[in-house]
Amino acid sequence: VAPGKGNLAADESTESIAKRLQSIGTENTEEDRHFYCQLLLTADDWVNPHTGGVILFHETLYQKGDDGRPFPQVIKSKGGVVGIKVDKGVVPLAGTNGETTTQGLDGLSECCAQYKKDGADFAKWRCVLKIGEHTPSAPAIMENANLLACYASICQQNGIVPIMEPEILPDGDHDLKRCQYVTEKLLAALYKALSNHHIYLEGTLLKPNMVTPGHACTQKFSHEETAMATVTALCRTVPPAVPGITFLSGGQRRRHPSTSMPSTSASCKPWALTFSYSRALQASALKAWGGKKENKKAAQEEYIKGALANSLSCQGKYTPSSQAGAAASESLFISNRAYQAEVFPGCPQHSRPRPLPHS
Ligand code: 13P
Repeated sequence: VAPGKGNLAADESTESIAKRLQSIGTENTEEDRHFYCQLLLTADDWVNPHTGGVILFHETLYQKGDDGRPFPQVIKSKGGVVGIKVDKGVVPLAGTNGETTTQGLDGLSECCAQYKKDGADFAKWRCVLKIGEHTPSAPAIMENANLLACYASICQQNGIVPIMEPEILPDGDHDLKRCQYVTEKLLAALYKALSNHHIYLEGTLLKPNMVTPGHACTQKFSHEETAMATVTALCRTVPPAVPGITFLSGGQRRRHPSTSMPSTSASCKPWALTFSYSRALQASALKAWGGKKENKKAAQEEYIKGALANSLSCQGKYTPSSQAGAAASESLFISNRAYQAEVFPGCPQHSRPRPLPHS
C-alpha cells in the first residue's frame, strides 16, 4: 500500500487457471502454468515500482525460475512482498438458498508456519456472497465474517499479514444502492467479528469488491457514482486503523477499475486505496501470450502497461489512453464465479490440505 503500489494476484488455483488457459486455447499443464507465472514475475524492472506484492498459489510458491531461484526469491529481489492464497475454495453452505462458505481452516496454522518459513509474509482468504432477492442471508454473512476473523487470527499468530477478501459477486440485476447496502452490512459484520477475535487491525488488509450495480442491471451509473458509493460504504464500516484497502477487480472491464479509482482516491479517507487484481492485470498479458513461447515479450509488455495504468489510477493520475492494453475494452466477467471448486492437486478431499513439500 505504499504510494503507487498494488498487488498482482497470481494465485489462481489449478482449476481456475485451467479456465483462463482454455480461453486462449492452451492446455493446463504444469509446464505452461510455470512458464506463464515466470513470465509475469520476470517482466521488465519497469514494473517493480508498481508492484508491492504478488499473491501466489501453493504450486507456484514452490516453483523455481530458470535461473534456479525459487519464485519467492525472484519476487523479493525486485522489492516485492510474497503472499499466498490459503483458502481451499468455496463450498455450499447447508440450509441456505445456494449460498456458500469457504473451506481451509483445518491445518491452517501449520500451513501458515510453513509458508512463513518458505518466504510468504502475507496471505489471502476469499469468501463469496451473492446478491439476490433473499440473499445474502444473515447466516451467510455471519458465517463468512466469522471465518475471515478465524483465518486472520491464525495468520497473525504465525506472523503473516491476513488479507480478508469478502467478495460480493457482480451477478444479478440489483442496482448500485442495493450493492452499497449489502457491502455495508457485510463489512460491518466483518469488523465486529474481527473485534470479537481480538485481531490487530493495523496488521491487516481488506480486499473488497468495488460497489457496482449487478451485471444485469438495466440502469447505468457513472464512474463517479460508483466511486462515491464505494467510498461511502467503506467510510461507514472500515476503521481508520486499517492501513489499506486493496480492491479486487471482480471481472470489471480492464479499464473500469483504472478509471474509477482516481475519483475514489480523491476523496478524503483514512486508508490507502489500491489494487490487488488478477483478471484486470492479467487479461491483456494472457491474450498477448496466447500460450506461445515466442510471445513472451509481448505478454510482458501488456502486463507492464496494465500495472502502470493501475499504479497511476490509485494515485489519481490516470487518464485513459494508450496505456490501456489489449483486453482493456473486453468484459472479464465470469458468471457465478462462486462455484468454481478449487481443489488442491493431489488432494482427494477438498478439506484436507495438500502435504507441504518441505514439511
Ligand atoms: P479478480 O481481480 O479477477 O477479481 O481476482 C481477485 C482475486 O481474488 C484474486 O486473488
